[in-house]
Amino acid sequence: MDPFSIPLGTLYNEDCIRGTAAYVPDGSIDLIITDPPYGIGGDHLHRHYNRDERYVVNGYREIPLDQYGMFSRKWVRAAERILKPGGSLYVISGYTNLYHILHALRSTGLQEVNHLIWKYSFGVFTRRKYVSSHYHILFYDKPGGRRTFNMEARFGMGEKDAEGRSLNNLDREDVWVLPREYKPGTYKNKNALPLSLLVKMIQYSSNEGDLVCDLFCGGFSTARAAIGLNRRFVGFEVSEQIFQAMSGDLRNLMPGFLLNTLRAPHLSPPANRGKRWTGDEREQLYRRYRGYQKKGLSKKEMIQRLAAEMGRGRWGIEKALKGMERHRG
Ligand SMILES: C[S@@+](CC[C@H](N)C(=O)[O-])C[C@H]1O[C@@H](n2cnc3c(N)ncnc32)[C@H](O)[C@@H]1O
Repeated sequence: MDPFSIPLGTLYNEDCIRGTAAYVPDGSIDLIITDPPYGIGGDHLHRHYNRDERYVVNGYREIPLDQYGMFSRKWVRAAERILKPGGSLYVISGYTNLYHILHALRSTGLQEVNHLIWKYSFGVFTRRKYVSSHYHILFYDKPGGRRTFNMEARFGMGEKDAEGRSLNNLDREDVWVLPREYKPGTYKNKNALPLSLLVKMIQYSSNEGDLVCDLFCGGFSTARAAIGLNRRFVGFEVSEQIFQAMSGDLRNLMPGFLLNTLRAPHLSPPANRGKRWTGDEREQLYRRYRGYQKKGLSKKEMIQRLAAEMGRGRWGIEKALKGMERHRG
């Protein structure tokens, strides 16, 4: 199957298990965000939602319930293989078949970081029971490397709300209250994820230039969010009908188009800024720098990480490294 090129990315109209085996090398992906089919009869999902069905794209490929366990084990193993050590995986799932996905994840070497709840604004209408209004998000990483977690990507540590609560802490709580997107009159996948949800995961768990992957693209919302934040992207969607209907306009995306819509966090000054470097600190800096060099990190990324680890500004790190290079010849 010919790959479909978009700015900063490649899309494959193909089954993700076969497709990753053919095109995605081991340990090449920084971040996977994926929303697998739910195994609850995809073509009936739309009946639960109050919306104009003329704009919902058909062709959603469901997985029969009796195959769901095996299917989950296969794609989760593929995800484990393609993730870099230290890479992150977010799986969005309803409750019904969550246990299959958890079971699959626990039979790999991936490790659980958080179980998040995404609470959306209003749920499916019911009469004689409670209203379901949340999804589960399983956040895992691959051991063997340092996980990217940009703690101040959205709110600085010192930022407070009117009641004095830390905005950074509130944003990083494990229940996320984010509305679904209703865009009347536009074509969409049956259960398209909101951009705000994807943007949040991408901001915390990757850096510009990183490679993001979605194994079940649907309406390509992950691709849109990733390219909008200047990340590279590779993704799979098995349905030809959905692929044809939803992928076309991605060709016109401008990389980074979402960057200037992001809130700029007020960052607290680094704890050690302006302090004199001790000999031990210089030694530690040099050791870590050499370690990152061996791992092949870019200079920009090394400096970013070292600044966070040593509680220094980026300029201070650059200056200390230059001094050490001169000193060591
Ligand atoms: C829950 S939807 C994804 C929705 C998407 N996150 C969005 O925001 O639009 C799951 C998608 O996976 C696709 N799919 C099912 N089996 C697949 C497979 N083996 N490989 C790739 N895609 C598959 C379905 O056709 C469906 O479009």
